[in-house]
Amino acid sequence: MTSQIINVDKLSREFKGSGGTVRALDAISLAVTEGTTLAVVGESGSGKTTAARLILGLDTPSKGSISVLGQEITSFGPSQMRPLRRDIQVVQQDPFSQLNRRHTVKRIIEGPMLAFKVGDKKSREERVIELLEAVGLEREHLKRKPHELSGGQCQRVAIARALALDPKILILDEAVSALDVSVRAQVLNLLKKLQRDRGLTYLFITHDLGVAHYMADEIVVMFRGRIVERGTRSEVFDTPGHHYTAGLLASVPVADFTDTKAAVSDVIVQATPNKADACAYRSRCPIGKNLDDCASKALTETMSSATHGWLCHFPIDR
Ligand SMILES: Nc1ncnc2c1ncn2[C@@H]1O[C@H](COP(=O)(O)OP(=O)(O)OP(=O)(O)O)[C@@H](O)[C@H]1O
Ligand SMILES: [Mg+2]
Repeated sequence: MTSQIINVDKLSREFKGSGGTVRALDAISLAVTEGTTLAVVGESGSGKTTAARLILGLDTPSKGSISVLGQEITSFGPSQMRPLRRDIQVVQQDPFSQLNRRHTVKRIIEGPMLAFKVGDKKSREERVIELLEAVGLEREHLKRKPHELSGGQCQRVAIARALALDPKILILDEAVSALDVSVRAQVLNLLKKLQRDRGLTYLFITHDLGVAHYMADEIVVMFRGRIVERGTRSEVFDTPGHHYTAGLLASVPVADFTDTKAAVSDVIVQATPNKADACAYRSRCPIGKNLDDCASKALTETMSSATHGWLCHFPIDR
């Protein structure tokens, strides 16, 4: 039996501001199976980080529910979330700003152990060295501060810190996006090795379809706060159902992820408004832009297999 260690059901998050309400997430549902990688792909503003923050318990949903490792965390506050924070950690995009620039690498990696009062000085030191080696850094790096490291080395430190408490889940929010192509490949391969060795579960957020193809077991494609397509990697890449997915795939070479300069954000153009539950992609869609149903009829997910589904009235015909 497979076990789903993240389970998100009809999750919505609205932000109210002076300019009106932003529906950052609109009833998304997803599940991540233990030991696997779910990639969340979508252009800027599609709601990826909002979803990550909710799953990490850093924000509270407007509607819907979240369970992590079998615990319903939907309305947890920081103190209720704290024990779970050992099991679910995050690595973010910016290699430098996510690390305390006044701290040494040793202190940064030790940080979570100090915060959770884990072990004594000696056992923590041993653990820091073990983690340092696991992420491919040398002992000489221990005394350095972030500005004395490269971007890739900083990201390795961030990964080591995220692993310090032996978590079950890592949320990687554009964790390799700021890295040069060759360094990105190294860090991706490191993440794959760590997943194999430690049985980690990844929620892997990326703009970059090449990276998603390289890393993911399953993929969800987000557009304007909704999941417009989901499936196994091969379902989404080989037989996409949604025109948005197909458009993304056409714009990005996926065979060699290291050569993926084009990203989802490069294909953004402005959309015209629709009825709330209708297709938000319509104005960019080669099929739907002239069809009334796409502008007015509410969408529900169509599943073509147990895992492959899309949110489209007129999916790609095969
Ligand atoms: N705290 C907030 N207050 C108001 N609006 C917000 C807030 N956080 C996010 N949003 C809005 O919610 C939408 C989704 O934002 P989010 O950061 O989740 O996107 P994203 O997919 O992570 O984008 P990117 O790829 O640029 O990181 C955006 O329209 C954003 O402006
Ligand atoms: Mg984001």
